[in-house]
Order: sequence, then C-alpha cells, then structure tokens
Amino acid sequence: MATFDANLYRQAWRKFPTGVSIVTTRSADGGPYATTANALLSAALDPPLLLLSVGTGGQTCANLAREGLFGVSFLPDDQAEVADFYARASAEERGTLPPSHTAPASGVALLDGALAAMACRIEQQMEAGDHTLFVASVEHVEVGEGSALLFYDGRYGSARQS
Ligand SMILES: Cc1cc2nc3c(=O)[nH]c(=O)nc-3n(C[C@H](O)[C@H](O)[C@H](O)COP(=O)(O)O)c2cc1C
Repeated sequence: MATFDANLYRQAWRKFPTGVSIVTTRSADGGPYATTANALLSAALDPPLLLLSVGTGGQTCANLAREGLFGVSFLPDDQAEVADFYARASAEERGTLPPSHTAPASGVALLDGALAAMACRIEQQMEAGDHTLFVASVEHVEVGEGSALLFYDGRYGSARQS
C-alpha cells in the first residue's frame, strides 16, 4: 500500500486561504488565554453553531474543555502582528490580551476593533485524530468594519482589493 504523504497534505491546505481569528478563553488560574486560529467554520445557522478545531495536546484545548466558553474575534488586515504573536506566544504571553472588552452574560473577552466577534458556549466535543473538534452555540455577536486579514500559503495578506 502506498504511504500517505503527510507533507503533501499540509502543502495542499496551504493553498486554501482563510480568515484569521483570535480565540480567547481562560487558563486554570482564571486569567485570559488567547490563541490564533483559522480552523473554524459556521456549522449551522439555526441554531447558530460554530465549529473550531484545536490540537488536542495543547493548552488551548485543555482550557476550552475545562472552561466551556470562548470568544472568537475575526482580525482586520492591520492585525497580522497580533495573529503572529498569539500563534507563537509562550503560555505566559498568551495571558496578556490586546485591547479588548467583555461580552455580556458569558464574560468572555472579545478584541476591540475586530471585524466581527462572537461569544460561544461549547455544546459538544469530539476527538478527530490529533485534534479536537468543538461545536459551540453562539450567544452574542458583534460586527465591525474593515477588511479581513487572510492567511494563505503560509503568509498573511489582506482581502482588500488593490
Ligand atoms: C494562521 C494560524 C492559524 C492557526 N489556527 C489554529 C487552529 O485553528 N487550531 C489550533 O489548534 N492551532 C492553530 N494555530 C496554532 C496556534 O495559534 C498555537 O500556536 C497552538 O495552538 C499552540 O498553543 P496551545 O498550546 O495553546 O494549543 C494556528 C496558527 C496560525 C499561524
């Protein structure tokens, strides 16, 4: 049987452009915890459900599973540095958020200036290989203005047409 080329699989996904979000939850000590995420989609409209995939071995997954709540903020195209920071940050650095505010009711942090932001409550989780899929109900939505930050071929770009 031919062996599966995992590198080719990764290369293929580099050809699929996405937006970029910051997922915010809490760490075990109650402080904030932020990570950059693009593996998310609108899973259903009625009721509003969002699907987020995170690496099972990481702190983000442990924090989400324990807290059951998270915020997701879609980044505008001038926030590539924010995306890069929370993709590489240490666990300690993830505890400091960019300017943000608190969503009503759930109290999760949403980033100021996001193109759109949502407060989510985890309804289901399922292991999928080395990742965990979280299905969450969306309890609060905010929509801002601007052009989206994109991630494509390993680089950040803008959805703005030039
Ligand atoms: C553009 C971009 C998108 C990312 N999307 C995800 C994602 O959807 N899920 C994920 O688990 N990690 C994603 N990562 C990696 C995380 O940002 C982070 O580095 C990783 O989760 C390690 O942190 P942890 O120990 O808190 O899990 C992404 C990184 C980049 C640069």
